[in-house]
Amino acid sequence: MTPEASVTDLQQERPAPGRTSPPRTGASFGPPMTNSPPAADSPPRTQTPAAELISVGLSFQSSRGRAVVLEDVNLKIFPGDFVCVLGPSGCGKTSLLNLVAGYLPGTEGEVLVGGAPQLGPNPRVGVVFQAPNLFPWLTAFKNIEFGLKMLGGEKKKRRERVLELLKLISLENSRDLLPHEMSGGMRQRVAIARALALDSKIVLLDEPFSALDALTREMMQKHLRDIWGQARRCFFFITHDVQEALLLANRLVVMSASPGRIFADFKNPLREPDDRDFEEVRADPRFPGLRADLLEMIQGNSCVI
Ligand SMILES: Nc1ncnc2c1ncn2[C@@H]1O[C@H](COP(=O)(O)OP(=O)(O)OP(=O)(O)O)[C@@H](O)[C@H]1O
Ligand SMILES: [Mg+2]
Repeated sequence: MTPEASVTDLQQERPAPGRTSPPRTGASFGPPMTNSPPAADSPPRTQTPAAELISVGLSFQSSRGRAVVLEDVNLKIFPGDFVCVLGPSGCGKTSLLNLVAGYLPGTEGEVLVGGAPQLGPNPRVGVVFQAPNLFPWLTAFKNIEFGLKMLGGEKKKRRERVLELLKLISLENSRDLLPHEMSGGMRQRVAIARALALDSKIVLLDEPFSALDALTREMMQKHLRDIWGQARRCFFFITHDVQEALLLANRLVVMSASPGRIFADFKNPLREPDDRDFEEVRADPRFPGLRADLLEMIQGNSCVI
């Protein structure tokens, strides 16, 4: 099938806004992966998932009653996955990340990290937040080194690891800068290096570039793809930006709201092969159709506040 045919098929398939069912098995999207065996064209995934959520639910009790934030969430993410999670505001993306990070216990179900129950924050999971919460009194070098130092170990090895990471984020020459002397993009790169320092199997990123200007953001997106390509960890990246998701992710997860559920889960066809650069991804004739379809999925699944 030609790429043009894929876009046309997808556009013809596009349902009315406000739909509540996942996309049909479209030529571009491929079959949804949620709660189902791997797509026929993907290799069998026999490894232990980097993280797994089994029938996970999350609710909060308040004076106004019980609010169900997440319901029956089932998701497996694997080493080497670059997953982008999209969904309307308030649908529970950050809550989902907090469960995987071990910051929050689920109300129902089970969260496993590397096959073991997630019982609390631990070095197996790295987290990067929207605001890079670096220690203001520590240099770039020392911020990255901090977690390694807490774990102990040989000083020489620790230093080598930090220097390697500084190179990975292209900040070898800025190692002695304090956070207030860095740009927003530099601070966010240090936060990413800090999350990578502990050799965590999975790195969770919650809208890490949303506060950056367009140019810095694109530079950071490219950086992150390169870092992922070299480190080949599992990246779980939350974003509001459909274009960002299509550029970065190999796998796209869309959530619906009220309560938050996994609505769709599929391979990003624009990332096959996955060494394409951003310009190639953007120039793909399927790009506009996929972007429109994702937007419609998100808007169609918003909660009315
Ligand atoms: N500690 C809490 N107590 C009560 N309700 C909470 C708590 N934390 C989150 N919520 C509710 O859970 C829902 C999901 O919040 P969450 O922050 O996970 O959404 P989100 O998808 O990340 O939104 P956004 O895209 O705006 O960042 C919201 O309705 C929020 O009010
Ligand atoms: Mg959030």
